[in-house]
Amino acid sequence: MYRKTIGSAVLFVLCALHALSSGAAFAATDAAGAMPQSMDQRIRACTSCHGVQGQGRNNDYFPRIAGKPAEYLFNQLIAFRDGGRTYPPMGYLLAFLPDDYLRQISEYFAALQPPYPQSDHAALPPKLLAAGEKLVMHGDPARGIPACIACHGARMTGTQPGIPGLLGLHASYIAGQMGTWRSGTRHALAPDCMRTIALKLNDNDIAAVSNWLARQPRPADPRPAPASAERLPLACGSQPQ
Ligand code: HEC
Ligand code: HEC
Repeated sequence: MYRKTIGSAVLFVLCALHALSSGAAFAATDAAGAMPQSMDQRIRACTSCHGVQGQGRNNDYFPRIAGKPAEYLFNQLIAFRDGGRTYPPMGYLLAFLPDDYLRQISEYFAALQPPYPQSDHAALPPKLLAAGEKLVMHGDPARGIPACIACHGARMTGTQPGIPGLLGLHASYIAGQMGTWRSGTRHALAPDCMRTIALKLNDNDIAAVSNWLARQPRPADPRPAPASAERLPLACGSQPQ
């Protein structure tokens, strides 16, 4: 009896030591299955900034990445790695990661649908917000600006495979991205339709669309719209037709 207890205690310690010495391998074969565990470890570097489920943070800037089309997310990771977008902390993280690995991370975040952050509520002139709504819904044909929803989807939740949703982002992030397109530090796949559009928007237009978008409530169905056979108002390299 005594002998048997000692025997199982020794066995237990040996198992614990084995688990410690091969931590990663042990976790990877955990009950939950190999993939989620190893993915959990891969994305730990990302979630400190983007939230545990990629939901974004209440911090004004860090963007939501969850639920965006996988192909869109993949294009962005490639851009941060190869210079199409510049944000040094992400550039360093991604510098040596192969395409396959980035594709898996993109698919992981695309499949998540965590709750949306609170929408922005700052008091703003109704005229500014009305101008924002008009541009998003109808564009400004006189200036050759197409409606944002023509590409980003009637519900503004994006369109598969390459167009992201515009809800759940802070106004400062949306305006910031328009600025990087205008200044030429953000490039999407050619032809870069967003650069053409951003160059047609003035500062007031950008304040209007970004603030109006950031105030919209969570969509009832946050999933991106399926790819559409309808022609886009401009050709976009990331949304081949
Ligand atoms: C130090 C904070 C930080 C870390 C760590 C980080 N990110 Fe980011 N991420 C940001 C910021 C800030 C931006 C917006 C940068 C810009 O201005 O374009 C961003 C942008 C993105 C975008 C583009 C979002 C969009 O809607 O276009 C994706 C996708 C993304 N990050 C994924 C990741 C992944 C995957 C990881 C882990 C491998 C990661 N990030 C690690 C802060 C971070
Ligand atoms: C002709 C199609 C088209 C139209 C119209 C369009 N977009 Fe886009 N938009 C895109 C595509 C494609 C992307 C993805 C680019 C990439 O791969 O980086 C994008 C990306 C964006 C992003 C980046 C989102 C992020 O998470 O970083 C913002 C912001 C944006 N568009 C805002 C707008 C606004 C505001 C309007 C209306 C004034 C608009 N777009 C009109 C096609 C369009």
